[in-house]
Amino acid sequence: MKKISIAIDGPSAAGKSTIAKMVAKKENFIYIDTGAMYRSVAFYCIKNHIDLNDEQAVEQAISNIQIRLTADNKVYLNDEDVSLQIRTDEVSLGASCVSKYQAVRTFLVDEQRKMAETGNVILDGRDIGTVVLPHADLKIYQIASVETRAKRRYLENKERGLEADLETIKKEIEQRDYQDMHRAISPLKKADDAIELDTSNMTLEEVVDQVLTLINKTREE
Ligand code: DC
Repeated sequence: MKKISIAIDGPSAAGKSTIAKMVAKKENFIYIDTGAMYRSVAFYCIKNHIDLNDEQAVEQAISNIQIRLTADNKVYLNDEDVSLQIRTDEVSLGASCVSKYQAVRTFLVDEQRKMAETGNVILDGRDIGTVVLPHADLKIYQIASVETRAKRRYLENKERGLEADLETIKKEIEQRDYQDMHRAISPLKKADDAIELDTSNMTLEEVVDQVLTLINKTREE
């Protein structure tokens, strides 16, 4: 069977990673969580007291950063498992901040393309269909209302044992939407050839089924 690559883009907390993970498991694909990579850069800077607003300092930090994503969806930063630590609100906003820097994007996009070379991969992020893999076989633009996204993230945080406040999460999502859509380099936007999937009123299973149908169609093409 032909090997394919799938790009899932969309705003924060739209459920992209949950869907990507479930589809990857069903199809035996490699899942590449590109947001986790931006989060790792932000986490490294925060931990090392590097001012996230200081572009030059962040750029310098990159040469000390090695990120590894494992098959069981763990995130390693310089061989330290940071999977949980990169999920706080502080790191979410920090990731959105460092992701506007060209040097950070060049470094991570390069890594992501290398990771995707094997084929049968599913990547989720903001610029996968537009920049990282412009020739991806299937591009999905996954959206959901702010209310739905905030509620989902709230429950997710609680489940992870993280502090959760619905109003704070909603504000944080709105702020990140704005930042991610308005930055100068590779802003979040739907690729012309992406299929939009509004999951506001869909269950997880319905979304997965829809994506699997799209994958089968892609294979037939
Ligand atoms: O998907 P996420 O919430 O884990 O992403 C965290 C931040 O990283 C997001 O606000 C913007 C940035 N990001 C990006 O600019 N490009 C990507 N491909 C993935 C994430």
